[in-house]
Amino acid sequence: MLRLDKFLSGANLGSRSQVKEYLKQGLVRVNGEVVRKPEYKIEEGKDRVSFREKEIIYKKYVYYMLNKPQGVVSATRDRMHGTVSDLLKDTGYGDLFPVGRLDRDTEGLLIMTNDGGLAHDLLSPKKHVKKVYYVETARPLSEEGRKALEKGVDIGEEKPSLPAKAERISDTSIYLTITEGKYHQVKRMLHAVENEVAYLKRTAMGGLFLDENLPCGSYRELTEEEVRKMRE
Ligand code: URA
Repeated sequence: MLRLDKFLSGANLGSRSQVKEYLKQGLVRVNGEVVRKPEYKIEEGKDRVSFREKEIIYKKYVYYMLNKPQGVVSATRDRMHGTVSDLLKDTGYGDLFPVGRLDRDTEGLLIMTNDGGLAHDLLSPKKHVKKVYYVETARPLSEEGRKALEKGVDIGEEKPSLPAKAERISDTSIYLTITEGKYHQVKRMLHAVENEVAYLKRTAMGGLFLDENLPCGSYRELTEEEVRKMRE
């Protein structure tokens, strides 16, 4: 059972106070009857709720793509810095968390959801989910260095990094595809080939690609097709 105001704000209808206003105005019906009480309890998936005569489909889990900007941390709360959750507070879903982490100075694709099961699957080291990064390097990357990244390099762990794909774009930029996600993985890999990351952006994860039309700092809900691809 869920409070009606929470359900409505969770369905992206507006903030809790906006939703209370809608209720007061008699714009919400539950099973055909106008309900004005925000604390009214509904059963998700059973009670039929409508707003301005349009039925609201309840979604237990939601999935967003965020084009993470630099300067915010991949956390739900932080004492020092803004967080990725702050950027999604207008969704009405207060329980979204990032699937994995991007460093504060990394940009690009970050999935935000309240689906713990999916997050667990995507992050499981056993699943080897592919992640693609656009990397600009501080110095030209030698062909030897590029090949070493593909083969596996010593990043200070027990084992070298797993085989990767490093596609050259220019002397100082590559697309790097990796299937693991250790702390500072890409930065440590570049460090291992005597270079440094100057700019880092994630462009894909699993079957999901960063929407090129999504400005840095913006987000949008994933389409059903994208959610399906991500689950594969
Ligand atoms: N690897 C890094 O070093 N940083 C990131 O943010 C992501 C991958």
